[in-house]
Formats: sequence, C-alpha cells, structure tokens
Amino acid sequence: MGLLQGKVVVITGGAGRLGRVFTEAVVAADGRVVVAEVMNARTTAAIEALRAAHGDAVAGVECDITDAASLDRLIKGAVDRFGRIDALVNNAYPRNAAYGRRFEEVAYADFVENVGMHAGGYFLAAQRFIDHFRRQGHGNIVNMASIYGVVAPRFEVYAGTDMTMPVEYAVIKSGVLMLTRYIAAHCAGMGIRCNAISPGGIRDGQPEVFLERYRAHALTKGMLDAHDVTGTLLFLLSDLSAYINGQNIVVDDGWTL
Ligand SMILES: NC(=O)c1ccc[n+]([C@@H]2O[C@H](COP(=O)([O-])OP(=O)(O)OC[C@H]3O[C@@H](n4cnc5c(N)ncnc54)[C@H](O)[C@@H]3O)[C@@H](O)[C@H]2O)c1
Repeated sequence: MGLLQGKVVVITGGAGRLGRVFTEAVVAADGRVVVAEVMNARTTAAIEALRAAHGDAVAGVECDITDAASLDRLIKGAVDRFGRIDALVNNAYPRNAAYGRRFEEVAYADFVENVGMHAGGYFLAAQRFIDHFRRQGHGNIVNMASIYGVVAPRFEVYAGTDMTMPVEYAVIKSGVLMLTRYIAAHCAGMGIRCNAISPGGIRDGQPEVFLERYRAHALTKGMLDAHDVTGTLLFLLSDLSAYINGQNIVVDDGWTL
C-alpha cells in the first residue's frame, strides 16, 4: 500500500516545473491529485499528459489563486470529483511581466502586484481551504517557500548572468514561512495542520557559470532536480508527519548552512 493510499491532494500550479513532478510522486504513492491551474495551451497540454499517464488518478480543474470565487469552485470541483480533499499544496507561482528585475528597477506597482498575487494568493487559497477543511473535520496544507525566505541572497552567484534574486521573492517567501506558522496556530484544535518546504534552486537550463558558483556553496550536488524535493512533500502529506505542524523543512543540499 502506498504512503498516500486514498488521499486526495490539490496542487495549485500543478502543471508547472515542480507541480508536474509532485503530481507524479503523489500518484506513485497511491494518492489522487487535482491539478489546479490557470488554463492555457501549456498547462492544458501538461494536464493532458498527466491524465494520459495516470488516468482518473489525476484531474485538472481551472483555478486562479488570486480569486476567491475561483478557489471555491476548485474546492467544489475537487469534492465532486473525488469525494473529499485531504491536502492543499500551495505551489502556484504567479508573477507579472515585470517580475525578475534588479532591485533598482522594480517599480512600486509591480512590487505590490507580485507580492499580492503570490503571498496574497497563498493566503487566500489557505483561507478558502481551511473553511472547507473545518467543515470536513480534517485537512493538511503544505506551502512552498524557498531558501530565499530563510537567508539573504548571495548576489555573487548571479554575477555575469542576466539573473538576479528578485526582492519580491524574498518578501513573498519569508512571508509564506510566517503565514505557515500563523495558519498552524490559527487552526489549533481543528484537525488541520500546515507546514512549509523551502527548496534550494532547481536546475532548469541556467548558465554554467551560475551553476558552478551556486555549487560552491552546496555540500554535494548544487542545484537540485524537482525529484529531490518529492520525498519531503510525500512525508508532509502522509500520516508519518501527523504531529509535525507549523514547521519549515529546508531541502537545499546544505546551501543555507
Ligand atoms: N524552481 C525553483 O528553483 C524553486 C525553488 C524554490 C521554491 N520554488 C517554489 O516552488 C513553487 C513552484 O515553482 P515552479 O518552479 O514549479 O514554478 P513554475 O512557474 O514552473 O510553475 C508554477 C505554476 O503556477 C501556475 N500559476 C501561475 N499563476 C497562477 C494562479 N494565479 N493561479 C493558479 N496557478 C497559477 C502556472 O501556470 C505554473 O504552471 C513556487 O512556489 C516556487 O516559488 C521553486
């Protein structure tokens, strides 16, 4: 019997880079997944591929995490499809067209919009799901945070590339970590728990000069693959972690030591 036998897990941004791998891992552990996504050609194709591989263990439901009515439709759609929801993985990565600029170039409106969509969306999804989980009698939330919510950026690893570590991201992910503790405390006695995962950087075609500089701060591998994070997710979604609550698990090959 798989670790997540019978569990129904909603993964926001489930058609993205980490989300697809998370979906595969939950299904491999005998769970069922609702991939909650904004629908476009890329996400639709990813969901079709997941359904082709895993059949009815995966369902795609349209959802924008910045819209309460959309989240409520997601919850209804997931319950209609699978009968209940055991867990929410707050994993979507909303950002606007200006996201990713250097500190000096970030406009106030873009800062506010990106923090609002991402941290605000994680709050809103948690609020709507907690409402459902309370009525259901149990629930589990895993928030995707980041090493950049834990430590200050090492800007030197980006030297000589077009990349940077956006200031919005630091604010969002440190906020998501406190949101995690807040939710855990708020849900005392409700049978609902909430934890966070803070992955290090995930390899995705970044320039070699960056990968080498990044690797110099790690203990073995350097940038990770999405698969390197799935064990921690499955643990937090499973009953093995039943009394782990309000915690953050850093999965970064020692990068933040
Ligand atoms: N990739 C990394 O290096 C890394 C490292 C640490 C943490 N993380 C975190 O992991 C999570 C997933 O990251 P990723 O790299 O897979 O991102 P990604 O961009 O590949 O995927 C994110 C998904 O979110 C969806 N999305 C965007 N806006 C949405 C909205 N408003 N409502 C619903 N869905 C929406 C997108 O369609 C996309 O499929 C994020 O929280 C990210 O911050 C990523």
